[in-house]
Amino acid sequence: MKDAESLIEKSKLKDAQEIINVINSSNRDAFGRIIPKQYFREPIITLKEYEESLENMTFYIHRYEGSIIAVAALSVEAAETGRIRWVYVLPNHQKQGIGTALVSHIEAVARDMGLKKIRLVTDCNATWAIRFYKNRGYTQTSSIPNPWGFNIWMEKEI
Ligand SMILES: CC(C)(COP(=O)(O)OP(=O)(O)OC[C@H]1O[C@@H](n2cnc3c(N)ncnc32)[C@H](O)[C@@H]1OP(=O)(O)O)[C@@H](O)C(=O)NCCC(=O)NCCS
Repeated sequence: MKDAESLIEKSKLKDAQEIINVINSSNRDAFGRIIPKQYFREPIITLKEYEESLENMTFYIHRYEGSIIAVAALSVEAAETGRIRWVYVLPNHQKQGIGTALVSHIEAVARDMGLKKIRLVTDCNATWAIRFYKNRGYTQTSSIPNPWGFNIWMEKEI
């Protein structure tokens, strides 16, 4: 069987609907529990927003039996800084190394592009995500208030 990283591909235009389905369903499962109802956005991304986002980021996908089950994106923020966006693994496929493989893949792509640092933002109550990134070498750089708590910015030299 192939390892998780070898199953990662760059997304194609035809993947759009499947990608937003993964993001919206994983987001609902994880963040629907920690973001107060009045602030929770559903869907978190529409097809139009996804298509517009392709102008400044590249999505990577992981398939299982032909279907997309995990996604993550890389955008370039500055000459030497990239940002990881939209890291989502479907609930039934979490804790199998797929998120790690996607993040490692994006770091490798970023390194090949000459980037030196990766940043990302998550929610202060998303303890699983903060632990996930800490265990992969990311450190917290700042906390920015949002209406229900804080957004946590993290970064890693790559
Ligand atoms: C955060 C997220 C992307 C991680 O993806 P994942 O595929 O579950 O990640 P991995 O399987 O690579 O690693 C997760 C944990 O499972 C463990 N793990 C990996 N393979 C495992 C296995 N075969 N058996 C048991 N545990 C395993 C890892 O050690 C890791 O533990 P840690 O977080 O304490 O370091 C995923 O939980 C997710 O999509 N969550 C909802 C959306 C979200 O929070 N996205 C991030 C927004 S910023």
